[in-house]
Amino acid sequence: MEDQFILHEPVTLVDQLSASWQAPSNIALVKYWGKHGVQLPANPSISFTLSDCKTITTLTAIKAVKHGFEIKLDGKLKPSFAPKIESYFKRIISYSPWIKEYYFTIETTNTFPHSSGIASSASSMAALSSCIVDLESQLTGTDIDLKKASFLARLGSGSACRSLEGKLVVWGSHDETSGSSDLFGVDVSQSLHAVFQDYQDTILLVDKGEKTVSSTVGHELMNEHAFAKARFHQAHSNLTAIKECLYTGDLDGFIKITESEALTLHAMMMTSHPYFILMKPNTLSIIEEIWAYRKETGVPVCFTLDAGANVHMLYPAAHKDTVEQLIKSKLAQYCQNEQYICDAIGSGATAV
Ligand code: DP6
Repeated sequence: MEDQFILHEPVTLVDQLSASWQAPSNIALVKYWGKHGVQLPANPSISFTLSDCKTITTLTAIKAVKHGFEIKLDGKLKPSFAPKIESYFKRIISYSPWIKEYYFTIETTNTFPHSSGIASSASSMAALSSCIVDLESQLTGTDIDLKKASFLARLGSGSACRSLEGKLVVWGSHDETSGSSDLFGVDVSQSLHAVFQDYQDTILLVDKGEKTVSSTVGHELMNEHAFAKARFHQAHSNLTAIKECLYTGDLDGFIKITESEALTLHAMMMTSHPYFILMKPNTLSIIEEIWAYRKETGVPVCFTLDAGANVHMLYPAAHKDTVEQLIKSKLAQYCQNEQYICDAIGSGATAV
């Protein structure tokens, strides 16, 4: 299966070439938590692609005797990013062997603050992989292959493969999603109901510090996890059910599954060995406020969490003003420096 991504077309090597792409972050509704082999998910996941939280990357390749790279964030060299990029290049080189002939300069910038606690690995690996397939298309004279970009992005960071194409993306083999694969993300937004087309995601920045336990370690802890089998099984049925809600516009059903998935993700962390907690007291305060507000007003706003303390508030665009008022009057006080980021559904990577 992986073989389909090995480059077979002849390449004409040139001395220098470059490409610039932007790719957004994404927020999972059914979560990827647990993996095996080389970046293969233990269960299928589904996410909304975001719009404003993104990485913009320029990749310049210069023909060289030895492959190598340097990486800059906001114009400054970032040697601390090198190990992750190094292992990414090692994993992708057999699929795009021309990489061996070049020295790369990766210049990258994020639209969200680096220390906001928002994972930049999804948007950055998606942007870098888009640049790689762009260079490959220049060298071969073939079309840019965003499916291959998703495949390569997965090898950098699993969730990154959901940031390439489409508003709603499934990654991981799922019986009831045609074309789904463990190897890359597939766009399943064709039948997305109107109410979700311009859905909002306001990210409340509860804690901007470094995470105490990385996602990589968290995934590993699912290997020996007492509840792993049941959890992986549940993800399949939640995916079937949430797709139905997303296609029919069933907001109540959507809210139930989305919030349950967020709490299940954190429940897995709390029941790992060693166990850990990434939520903060303010995370729980915000969740309680959201529940009280929903009960009182009937506004269909819900929350999800990623592997951290920040809270993503998801709601229809029609309720933007009222939710903004709630945030300003009650929720901002729980955020670090009262900071939050307003984002909405977007549709993936684009050349810049
Ligand atoms: C909780 O994609 O960051 O955000 O593959 O090790 O890079 P690696 O992990 P990563 O894990 C994301 C986990 C999650 C849920 C999700 O996005 O599905």
